[in-house]
Amino acid sequence: MEFKSLLLEKSEGTATLTVNRPQSLNALNGELLTELECAFHQLEQDGDVKVVVITGAGEKAFVAGADIKEMAAMDAFEGHRFALKGQRVMLALEKMKKPVIAAVNGYALGGGLELALACDFIYASEKAKLGFPEVTLGIMPGFGGTQNLSRLIGPGRAKEMIFTGRVISAEKGLAWGIVNELFPTEALLPKALETAAALKRTGLLGVGYAKDAIANGLNMTKEDGFRYEASLFGVLFATKDQREGMAAFVEKRTANFTGE
Ligand code: CAA
Repeated sequence: MEFKSLLLEKSEGTATLTVNRPQSLNALNGELLTELECAFHQLEQDGDVKVVVITGAGEKAFVAGADIKEMAAMDAFEGHRFALKGQRVMLALEKMKKPVIAAVNGYALGGGLELALACDFIYASEKAKLGFPEVTLGIMPGFGGTQNLSRLIGPGRAKEMIFTGRVISAEKGLAWGIVNELFPTEALLPKALETAAALKRTGLLGVGYAKDAIANGLNMTKEDGFRYEASLFGVLFATKDQREGMAAFVEKRTANFTGE
């Protein structure tokens, strides 16, 4: 598929996906959601891609939310269908077996913050602004924000953000645990790519399974989560990467993981 509002660059196993609709501060309309869904599917299938970094085009925004101009004309049925589509796209991103880093370079509002929250973790520019302004538009978050934010930072802080619609600074996002680390704007993408390169040197099968254990374990009782973790741990002993990683340790050399 040819992308109209996405840029996809691949270099040495890292794919950088840039949401590119700067005239609308990268707002997510239906067409862009379709493109994202297709891109996530493509990235999952592409054996050359080991790690994904998602960012926004321009200096102002990561993604300023779902497209308000498009939503303004929707009826209840279309609004429901739009939320289901956005959620499907966010879930496809969350379920990707490869690690995904959000590099939040500016406004991450509404659907934009939901996109960042669907990534594995968030790095942000010191100038980034985060928020769920939906209630100021007479709606509420609809692409998974109520669920993902409250699971990440707890219901108290999530309710304060969502009920007030207040936009918070990157520093507060860091203090609240939404963002893992802040960087000056010009250092953000290089730092995200540096972490992507470090991830590529690890056994990515182990990373993928750990991602699965964390995501699925959050919906289980702790004991079921432990059982699930042990099963995945056991499966990794059937892989070449486990033999290579442990042999490399014993032989005091760098492991050469193949993902098999
Ligand atoms: N949808 C559509 N267009 C948007 C947009 C959005 N979410 N955000 C910005 N734009 C457009 C503006 O309309 C403007 O276009 P025009 O030049 O054609 O008027 C252009 O992008 C530049 O924006 P501003 O002139 O507003 O830039 P600013 O610097 O003055 O303000 C901002 C920046 C504070 C981010 C402001 O644009 C804003 O408040 N945007 C809306 C943020 C928002 O409410 N997001 C949540 C959307 S609802 C949602 O996401 C629901 C969900 O959970 C799925």
